[in-house]
Formats: sequence, C-alpha cells, structure tokens
Amino acid sequence: MDLDAIRQIATDAPARLGSVRTVADLEELESALIGRKSEVAAARRDLGNLDQDERAEAGRVLNEAFGSIKTAIARRRAVLELEAENTLLESDRADVTFPGVSVARGTHHLLTQTMDEVCDIFRAIGYQVAEGPEIELAWYNFDALNTPPTHPARFESDTMYVESFDGKQRTGEDELLLRTHTSPMQARFMEKHDPPVHVVVPGRVFRTDTWDATHSPVFHQIEGLAVDTNITFGDLKGTLAYFVKEFFGPAAKIRFIPHFFPFTEPSAEMLVWFKGDWLEMLGCGLVDPNVFDAVGYDPQNVTGFAFGMGVERLAMVRHGISDLRHFYENDLRVLRQFR
Ligand code: DAH
Repeated sequence: MDLDAIRQIATDAPARLGSVRTVADLEELESALIGRKSEVAAARRDLGNLDQDERAEAGRVLNEAFGSIKTAIARRRAVLELEAENTLLESDRADVTFPGVSVARGTHHLLTQTMDEVCDIFRAIGYQVAEGPEIELAWYNFDALNTPPTHPARFESDTMYVESFDGKQRTGEDELLLRTHTSPMQARFMEKHDPPVHVVVPGRVFRTDTWDATHSPVFHQIEGLAVDTNITFGDLKGTLAYFVKEFFGPAAKIRFIPHFFPFTEPSAEMLVWFKGDWLEMLGCGLVDPNVFDAVGYDPQNVTGFAFGMGVERLAMVRHGISDLRHFYENDLRVLRQFR
C-alpha cells in the first residue's frame, strides 16, 4: 500500500478544493477524493489484507488523510454556499428608492358626492341618515302616505310594478313596486322610531319615464323628515334656508309657492335664486295628519315637516350641467371634472 501517495492526496486536497467554484463541482471532487471509487476508499478496503504490524500504521495514516480531506471539504462547502447565497441576494436586490407603480385612483361619482354632501349638511344639525328598500310595498309608497288607490301616480304609466316572487296574489296596498320616491321611508322610519324624529334618506327611485335630457327611469332623491311637538312651517323654512346656503352658497335665496302633495298639508314647492334665476328645487310641506295616523303617531300631539329633493337636479343646477344623461353615461371626460 502506497501510504506516501495517500499522504500526498491529503496534502494536495485543500489546493484542489480551493479551485472549485460551485457546490456541484465540489461534490464531484468530493467523490473523487473520498468516494467509493477513490484511492483512499480502496486503500481502506485493503487494510484487512495487511499484516498486523503494517495495519496499525496504515490505519492511522488513512484515518488522518480521510479526516483532513473531510474537514477541508466541509470548509470549502461553507464558503461556496455563502457565496451562492450572496449572489442570489445581489441579483434579487430591490431598489427601494425606485419610483413605485402608481395605482390609478378612482373617485366618487358626482351623484354620490352630492348625496354625501347633502347628508352631511343635515347631519351637522342633528339629523340621522337612513336608507330604505328600492322594492317597496304599495302601502308604504302610496297608502301610508295618504295617496288613494285612484291616484294617477299609481297607474302603470307612472309606476313600475314588480311581479310577485312568492306566488302570493298581491293587490292594492300589498302590491310590490319599484319605489317612485324616497318618501316611503317617512312611514317606515316613524313605524320604528318614536318622536322626535330628524332623518334624511338618500336613495334611488324609479319611474316609467323615457330617457331624455331631463328624464330618466332611474334617478336619486333625498327625503327629509322632522317630527316633534310644535313644529311649524317656520321651522321648515329655517331648515331649508340653512341647507340652501350651505349647498349653493350664502347668496342663494329661497321662495315658497303653494303646491299639492298627498302626504303634506299645506304643501309647497321651494324655488332657489341661483345665478340670476328662480329654479324649482324641491317639494315640501307639513306632514298630513293622515300620515301620522297610518304609522301610529298621534296627530293631536305631534306635528312635522317633510321635504324631498332630486339629487340630479341639485347637481345640475350647481354645476351647470344641462343634460341628465351625462350622469349615467360614464364618460370619463365628464366624471373627471368632479374629482
Ligand atoms: N315625494 C315627492 C316627489 O317625489 C317629493 C316630496 C314632496 C317629498 C313633498 C316630500 C314632501 O317629503 O313633503 O315628487
């Protein structure tokens, strides 16, 4: 057995390992140095054929050689693995000073902005905001609001009815429809809350209208209702005057002209003086005692006022928008003007 050759292999090993650049190459060299087919392994297998006295010396030399080669391999492996990791980190490095990819920022639609703003104006003086269902019972949309079965608004030429979905035969106050105004929430709210009540109700409403510059089968309203003891028409005027100055600016003036609504008595239409014109802005009045009866309030004890305004109308007047269809066509050139 050539023990000098074995010693030489062990002596040369660190230099050979030092020239290896990758872990894969290292593993190849490892098997050449101490793998099953290596000279060192062959010599260890031959130990058994040696004489007793030779065997001890050869065993010691082989063990030393094997041990020192293994240690050298482990050291080299640690270095190569660290280098590999550094290379990976280097190539994977993120430049945190590089400008990011900006996300396109959306904006609320002008109608949503308008509803939010109106609700905030009323919230500031103690009103709650409530919402109601868009599919409504004829009872709430009409009957509870003192609107008799023969009222023309109930005709299919004005109101869209919804087919019964539960197989139940629905007639009269039981019929389902797309609410034609936000006023049904007056009745729903009073049913659930005792007076005093101060509430505004934004929402979507539906009518059998053909699409043109001033009509749409779907539009938005905001309802208002205040009920307490001794509420007068003066309270209604004061509240709406405050609202109009907040919304249209301090120069806006208001005027009331008589009108008719089934659920208020007296009823009025409010006009706003804005940019040189008197413009019809909303319907309002003192809550009709029959409405209080319908919801279980005692008309002897409470009075109230109500109003209802069109959101599209408010936005069109304030921003000088001449065609209602601009609100629904989603033309970004229009929408972007109201960020
Ligand atoms: N609901 C009415 C409409 O859609 C508007 C309205 C008028 C609401 C008078 C009211 C009111 O609350 O008092 O035309």
